[in-house]
Amino acid sequence: MVVMWTTPGQCESQVWYGPGPWDMTEKVHATKVTLSYLEPTKAPKYIYRALLNNLKPGKTYYYMPASNDVYNEPLYFKTPPADPSWSPEFLIYGDIGIHSKSLALLAQEAMHGKYDAVLYIGDFGYNLYDSVPDGQYMGENVCDIFMRQIEEIASHVPYMTAPGNHEIEPSEDFKQYGVRFSMPNTDWPIPLTKMWYSLEIGPVHLISYSSEVFFLQDKRYIEAQRQWLTADLEAANKNRPSTPWIIALGHRPMYCFNNNSDDCKKNDSLVRLGLEDMFFKYGVDLVIQAHEHWDMLNYGYLKVNLELPATYR
Ligand SMILES: [Fe+2]
Repeated sequence: MVVMWTTPGQCESQVWYGPGPWDMTEKVHATKVTLSYLEPTKAPKYIYRALLNNLKPGKTYYYMPASNDVYNEPLYFKTPPADPSWSPEFLIYGDIGIHSKSLALLAQEAMHGKYDAVLYIGDFGYNLYDSVPDGQYMGENVCDIFMRQIEEIASHVPYMTAPGNHEIEPSEDFKQYGVRFSMPNTDWPIPLTKMWYSLEIGPVHLISYSSEVFFLQDKRYIEAQRQWLTADLEAANKNRPSTPWIIALGHRPMYCFNNNSDDCKKNDSLVRLGLEDMFFKYGVDLVIQAHEHWDMLNYGYLKVNLELPATYR
């Protein structure tokens, strides 16, 4: 499990953790990145990342980030069970701004242990790199507000992400996204050369890819991602007996029916031309995408049963 946090000043930081709130005897040091904002007059933030090792399946762990000698209150998370028949519950969403009312409700559900992981499919806060000119959050940076708003969920449940168009930033370096989040099987800060990853969660091989490679000035990342996806899908298909479901997440969709002129409305959609053949060829079972928000669709609810198919029981 990766724990991340931020401080306004530069600190020596670590995480204490263990099986109970009075039993946090393991300690791991954090690595640190200095993050500046678009406006050069803003003081930088210090972002920390600590990797908690040797965790056992199906257990609750308590943890406490500490910066210099200032300790956070104890937080906790649960590791997935080793039971092969376990079926995870995901909370899936994207496109949430800092003025949304949804997060507080979702946090309540997450705190009650309803979900095993959050899958956040791009577009964070609008935009993470902006500052807020007026109103409730005047003078603050959207990223700091947004991260504070998701803290209640993300400190208890793994918060798995994919980048969206609002993370690109004017210089196309995804700076805030790459530093503020750390994902498995890629580096931190998340590099432009590997803004995609996969992992196994119970019966699911979960792939997070970047739909944004198709819209950047620099086209090299399209081929880099395609090569990685091909190898990853080939390997995942060999693992179908133990991990039967392949689910892919990416921000911009291949198809849509909204009344606009977005890429997904076109027959030669860049995302569709870049991915669809591969997803058919390797039998990706479910592709979840975001980006197209429309009033009626904001209230959609999808329940997908991820129990093992009979052939694998
Ligand atoms: Fe979007």
